[in-house]
Amino acid sequence: MRVFDTHAHYDSGAFNADRMEVLASMPEQDVALILNPGCELESSRTAVALSEQFPFVYAAVGVHPSDCGDWEDSWLEELRALAAHEKVKAIGEIGLDYYWKENPPREFQQQVFRKQMELARELDLPVIIHDREAHQDCLSIVREYPDVRGVYHCYSGSLEDAKVLVKLGWMLSFTGVVTYKNARKSLEVIEWLPMDRIMIETDSPYLTPEPFRGKRNDSGKVHLVAEKIAQVKGMDAEEVARITLENGKRFFNI
Ligand code: NI
Repeated sequence: MRVFDTHAHYDSGAFNADRMEVLASMPEQDVALILNPGCELESSRTAVALSEQFPFVYAAVGVHPSDCGDWEDSWLEELRALAAHEKVKAIGEIGLDYYWKENPPREFQQQVFRKQMELARELDLPVIIHDREAHQDCLSIVREYPDVRGVYHCYSGSLEDAKVLVKLGWMLSFTGVVTYKNARKSLEVIEWLPMDRIMIETDSPYLTPEPFRGKRNDSGKVHLVAEKIAQVKGMDAEEVARITLENGKRFFNI
């Protein structure tokens, strides 16, 4: 079954030893497409460079809330220039992260998030949202931009918020976390979520699905996410793979 890993970080140092070999092996592992988001300027540039080297890799450019401490408004110019590349399909990953105590102050994260939402609106690109322990503030900023479409990556919010996001026309995407023992809340969301709003991802090199948890993740393991969703939905994994691939292509305009 051919799959679309809609969120993987091959710019990560975890792939320094074998990045090119791992990526080159993806077509034979039935990974049809990969989207590599950036987390700051350097990883955004690397994401674009990787998309030039592999026809099945696409990029997003953006500054992650955990990495926004040194933000200057001149970064917007850089992101705008990178986003002009034909293989850049979104602004991301952007959002809010209140989990790590050492992260930039909440108000500052919110400012940087809004500036990148404005950039996405200006460029008419979708956004990839990172929301960790910031559900309420994140949703209220999303609502300030009714003409920006997006996906919540590694969705960890409530069923109630999922219903609001679906109504707003947004997508939710799920990682290997759905295979973990404590995934009950995500599974409840998946059970309810209409199939045309689901995307799948690995968030490689992180969040490796069971039974490989603890090892480095790669896009070849996104099949396990499709299988778990199929189990929850009472569908064939093949069907989940096909629909999420189509959803991803439609969402990212590929
Ligand atoms: Ni990520």
